[in-house]
Amino acid sequence: MSFSPELLDEIRSRLDLVELVSAHVPLKKAGANWKGLCPFHAEKTPSFMVNPSRGIFHCFGCGVGGDAFGFLMRVERATFPEAVRRLAERVGVGLPADRPARDDGLRETLYRAMEWAAGRYQAWLWERPDAERARRYLAERGIGEALARTFRLGYAPEGWDTLLAAARAEGLEVATLELAGLVLPRQTGPGHYDRFRGRLLFPIGDPQGRVIAFGGRALAGEEPKYLNSPDTPLYQKGQTLYAFALARERMAATRRALLVEGYFDCLAAHQAGFGETVAVLGTALTASQLGLLRRYADEAVLFFDADRAGAEAARRAEELLEQSGAPLAWAVSRTGAFTAGGFRLRVATLPAGHDPDTFLRREGAEAFRERLGAARNLLGYALERILAEEETGTARGRTTAFARIALMLSKVQDAQEAAELAGEAARRLGVDPTQLWFEAQRLQAAPRRPATPPSPAEPAPVAFERDLVQLLLQRPEARQALGGSLAAEDVTHPGLRAILGALLAHAEVPPEGLVSRLEAEAERALLTGLLIEEREWPEPGQLIGELRHRLELRHRMRRVREMTQAIARAQAAGDPGLADLQLALQAEARQIREMAAGRSDPMIEGGVRP
Ligand code: UTP
Ligand code: MN
Repeated sequence: MSFSPELLDEIRSRLDLVELVSAHVPLKKAGANWKGLCPFHAEKTPSFMVNPSRGIFHCFGCGVGGDAFGFLMRVERATFPEAVRRLAERVGVGLPADRPARDDGLRETLYRAMEWAAGRYQAWLWERPDAERARRYLAERGIGEALARTFRLGYAPEGWDTLLAAARAEGLEVATLELAGLVLPRQTGPGHYDRFRGRLLFPIGDPQGRVIAFGGRALAGEEPKYLNSPDTPLYQKGQTLYAFALARERMAATRRALLVEGYFDCLAAHQAGFGETVAVLGTALTASQLGLLRRYADEAVLFFDADRAGAEAARRAEELLEQSGAPLAWAVSRTGAFTAGGFRLRVATLPAGHDPDTFLRREGAEAFRERLGAARNLLGYALERILAEEETGTARGRTTAFARIALMLSKVQDAQEAAELAGEAARRLGVDPTQLWFEAQRLQAAPRRPATPPSPAEPAPVAFERDLVQLLLQRPEARQALGGSLAAEDVTHPGLRAILGALLAHAEVPPEGLVSRLEAEAERALLTGLLIEEREWPEPGQLIGELRHRLELRHRMRRVREMTQAIARAQAAGDPGLADLQLALQAEARQIREMAAGRSDPMIEGGVRP
């Protein structure tokens, strides 16, 4: 789900951020800003600032910052779309209505149809004589009636139109049932038929517990084993977690979520007392599912069977965490799925051939709890898998394992995690840990995908660059005077470069609007700090002149570097133009020395060696 930056600008501009924040943090006026104790870290003297006219906040203590959306996401662990929706409502800005999925009238109708169907199916399970085989099946699989009722299990009878006929009797529209995925149009001739026939039904709820889909288990070995609802306006595969609403309270109380694959795994876990269990329903874990979990829990334990599917799922989870900004330390993404704070993923393994359902029934809750306790963090698990997959008894296998581990290590951003992992891997592989480190460092220095957000340990910006970008952000006249002659590459600090790039690309929006146009959390936090800090700019005109001068120097420096490279090439090739190039370089260098006389810039010092 994405919202246009213009829409976000509009909401932000109508919102009183001081009012919004005051509901959580008492604020006092301090100059152009309001000040209070930061809700995101423990402090005794206030360093949390809110700037109402720009609609942004920043804490100079812990470095977090953002706009109203970011504030709500952090303080209430809301997702980004939720924050947008709530704030849009608060200020009366309409969200784009051209999305059918957001048509509330239609959605309400579909919710009612699903709720009605769930009620029918459930009643049929317990009342109909022909549901006896489903009741017996449940008993055979160890599911008691109370649990079955909690999960609202149901039974779809054998006929082609049991649900359809009941719907007609109630005056429900067939078109609604079709849209809800409950009935299908006949392939030949007019009319419809029931999707679910002769199956035990598991209602799938949304995070609020409203029924949005069904999974139906075959009772006598028919194919497919599970028949599921198609994607509908209410249900998209991969967006929901089975039993989430039921597990939410226990999740919040234990700060932990157990993740299993199947319906019966989930039921068995609840039956055994692990009420914080949810199921991914056979698909790989998605970012949006992880996002749901981390709002209530601090860690999730993946309880997948030890077969390939489990390994795949774990690998996928690792990928997800990596994409979200940082594996196990800090992870914030504006795209909505993640909120701030550490979230840990651990993987518990079961003996081959077992899933949580069969394991719990054979070995019992205590054995399950032991497995839970022995769960390894994702990195440890990944290490385990690499060591198991490679033949570490051979030199060749060790080399491959070494390379794979180094690659994994190069992605770990938490120093503590990385050190532990390197230590263990080195010990078990029989190599020197520093060797592993060295290889990981080398890989880390290799060019990365541009999507990788800057690491939290970004170096402090050079003062000149910081001044330049801050002045541009704070003073419109500086933007006017310098904007045209600048490029993002004029600054070297990655965060400042991103901000400058956005500033130049969006000259039409006020600088606080860049908050929703920057991708990385670290960049947004840097931006809010630069915007909110109250600085005296004694003589903007003079400062602008100075900055212009320095920029000019930098451009020339870049030219010198290029000329130096050209000379090296000419030398290697025995090019007769070499002498001319050398002369030009000397002239340029002289100019630069004259310009730079009496000034200092760490980016320039030590650079010129004609
Ligand atoms: P499994 O094949 O591991 O089944 O699929 P299971 O959960 O152990 O099922 P039981 O114990 O035999 O009843 C795991 C999950 O993948 C989805 C279901 O959500 C299932 O619980 N699945 C599986 C389907 O959606 N369709 C299928 O045909 C099979
Ligand atoms: Mn099973």
